[in-house]
Amino acid sequence: MNLERDLRRAADIISDADSVTIVSHIDADGISTEAILAQALSREGIPLESVFVRQLEPMAMRHIPDDDSLKLFADLGAGQQALLESRGLSAEDVLILDHHVSQPCTTAYPMINCLDHGITRMSAAGLAYLVAKTLDPTNIDLAKLAVIGNVGDMMARENCGLVGPAREIVQDGVEYGNIIVQSRDLNCYGLSTRPVHICLGYCDEPYIDGISNNTNGALRFLERLGVELKNPRGGWLVWEELPFGDRRRIVSALTQHLIAHGQDTGRLLAETYIFPDEPERTPLRNASEYATLLNACGRWAKPGVGSSICRGMRGEAYREAEYMLGHHRSVIRDLLHYILDTGVTELSHLQYIHTGDRFPDTIVGIGAGMALSKLNWRKPIMVLSAMVDDPDLTKVSMRTNEWALSRGIDLQQALVEASASVGGAGGGHRIAAGAFIPRETEEEFVDDVNRVLKRQFAAAGQDDR
Ligand code: C5P
Ligand code: C5P
Ligand code: C5P
Repeated sequence: MNLERDLRRAADIISDADSVTIVSHIDADGISTEAILAQALSREGIPLESVFVRQLEPMAMRHIPDDDSLKLFADLGAGQQALLESRGLSAEDVLILDHHVSQPCTTAYPMINCLDHGITRMSAAGLAYLVAKTLDPTNIDLAKLAVIGNVGDMMARENCGLVGPAREIVQDGVEYGNIIVQSRDLNCYGLSTRPVHICLGYCDEPYIDGISNNTNGALRFLERLGVELKNPRGGWLVWEELPFGDRRRIVSALTQHLIAHGQDTGRLLAETYIFPDEPERTPLRNASEYATLLNACGRWAKPGVGSSICRGMRGEAYREAEYMLGHHRSVIRDLLHYILDTGVTELSHLQYIHTGDRFPDTIVGIGAGMALSKLNWRKPIMVLSAMVDDPDLTKVSMRTNEWALSRGIDLQQALVEASASVGGAGGGHRIAAGAFIPRETEEEFVDDVNRVLKRQFAAAGQDDR
């Protein structure tokens, strides 16, 4: 398959449409994808409407207008083509831009899927950007949004930076002037907003003895280095504000500290993406914090606020988003503590916990991902949660890591198979997947998933846990 030809075809389908309905996902990747497409289409003078859905499932289809507009499914759709077909959508009505695993169906919907082109480290925002750039090469100002979406979907995680086509998009932003690449920067969350010792204290990959999960320890470590951590007014400096020399000194001391403790230094540094056109000391200033801000908007049911911010709106929208970010962080913190304090139930190849109706089903996957590295990281983790708006259904979120992937684990396949056998539906990626299942099948389902995971480990001949 030829990506350039597919991009041209997608751009032509869009240009030929009288009007477009963009249907996208509520997370950072979905919101930035929508913002890229909406701006590119507006610039072409194409009338459009946007619909955000939590998941493309039968209930969500109600929100998609029954009109003549082109339905542009972005960051979703690949895994739900049978649903589109069952709703009577024809190949002429639809365009799919996605990076999720496809589900076969008889209608040949026009689709660009990163996976079909062997691209596994670029998400929907990257694809949306490439379509936007095909529509009009001057759309390169939108590269920044593509980088936010890619980082938000963890595409930079494995290689401590974006790679392949997603990295080429970074270069467009650098050329346009709204992205600065910091190579070999600290691989921590909060470089633009958190005081340095807090930033380090929250960093647990790599786990740094005496510093990770220990902000006082981190502060003492920094004080011993004699680095100036406060501004002249007595306020804490953030990492991004430290002089280059101080940053180098800290990085080199951390490296020595890790080596002295026999720990791997491989993940200490990462490439980070700074946005010089955004105000300093705000979450808009770098890709990972911007992505979390968008996730906060989406997961708390205001994806439109996130989209407005992506289009440059500030003022009230930004204040609202900042408030949601604070809330998002504190609920995720509570969720993480709940999982760790309550403890998971371990089966032979799976660990799971049911959080009942304590946390919204839209964030449990984030908690699962964050808890995994603090638990038995060799066993994929599952979080089950009650769907408040549908008591007959249970939401399932699973996360694993590269270690398990290299040993044959495929969560998307496991959840699609196990959920189908109990009358539910699931999808996602090998490393992160989710499903909805009938509530009364929970026990059977958990056992089923454990059985599938056991089979996957065994099939790869890699069951060396
Ligand atoms: O739709 P969905 O793509 O939203 O899933 C996004 C989730 O999947 C995020 O939580 C992200 O952490 C996870 N993910 C991942 N690695 C990938 C792809 C997705 O961790 N390669
Ligand atoms: O859904 P996914 O697994 O990607 O969730 C990870 C999300 O949690 C990311 O958007 C990330 O920015 C956010 N996060 C956070 N606070 C942290 C670490 C991650 O809000 N300390
Ligand atoms: O909701 P969660 O963050 O756990 O979702 C992880 C991945 O699984 C996402 O890519 C999401 O789109 C996908 N998913 C799915 N079908 C579901 C639930 C989640 O494809 N019913």
